Amino acid sequence: MAGKKGSVENKVAIITGAGQGIGKACALLFADEGAKVVVVARNDAKGNDVVKEIKKKKGEAIFVHADVSKEAEVKAMVDAVVKKYGRVDILVNNAGVVLVKPITETTEADIDYLVDSNYKSMIFCIKHSVPHMPKGGSIVNVSSISGHVGQINHAAYGGSKGAQLSMTRALAWELGPKGIRVNSISPGSVDTPMLMGDCEIEAKRHHTTVEAIRKEREDIGVFHRWGTPEEIAEPVLFIASDKASYITGADLLVDAGWNAG
Ligand SMILES: NC(=O)c1ccc[n+]([C@@H]2O[C@H](COP(=O)([O-])OP(=O)(O)OC[C@H]3O[C@@H](n4cnc5c(N)ncnc54)[C@H](O)[C@@H]3O)[C@@H](O)[C@H]2O)c1
Repeated sequence: MAGKKGSVENKVAIITGAGQGIGKACALLFADEGAKVVVVARNDAKGNDVVKEIKKKKGEAIFVHADVSKEAEVKAMVDAVVKKYGRVDILVNNAGVVLVKPITETTEADIDYLVDSNYKSMIFCIKHSVPHMPKGGSIVNVSSISGHVGQINHAAYGGSKGAQLSMTRALAWELGPKGIRVNSISPGSVDTPMLMGDCEIEAKRHHTTVEAIRKEREDIGVFHRWGTPEEIAEPVLFIASDKASYITGADLLVDAGWNAG
């Protein structure tokens, strides 16, 4: 919109796992708010579609392929961003995977997959972005309600999300002197392909319908509904932007009261 200044105007914003769900909503919103968005995804078709959608609305975005659980791919991704834009102002560590399994059935391969995707990926993205972050840089780690509350069959996943919370606090102190803020956000139930997949597994396990599991999950929050990806993207935008300049080491629960109940 002519004359409108967005809250992340001209900021170079890397958003991982931006091909669908919460990451996609963040990419679209950040572009609307004036950022130069780096859409990072494993699925090239989905990543490119998000870029197309942003460009259709006259926003600025590029797609960079990366499996963020692999350090070499993260380094190459950040190198490509620096070559194009010269810096990284905002990093939204959103890419992640879920595991819904009793602990007695959890395999070593499951744990490796969770740790690689949810924990190592964040370290790699932060490690390689920070050297290119000017003062005022901002990192947002997308954790989960599962890092705060107990949930049956979510022990290994919850552990990986809890690790993100403690990493966020430590990095706020480590990177604060460089003028870089580090925060996390913990969504409750958000209507994305991940959560639908989660419900399908639970429905099979309990010999019930996806709709029944969904209803159960919807009733956990005060509003008796799931959040939309856009309802997560807005608080991510706020905490990433200079409007949150005095906030670091914080976790923002966006869970419709789940943790408060
Ligand atoms: N949906 C929810 O209810 C919910 C709740 C709390 C937290 N979260 C967290 O929010 C984040 C986004 O979840 P979502 O619901 O949008 O999930 P989603 O599965 O719909 O989207 C996640 C995207 O990340 C990508 N991704 C995963 N691992 C990757 C990797 N190694 N490299 C590159 N891309 C990778 C996936 O391919 C996918 O496109 C995750 O970290 C998730 O744990 C989701």
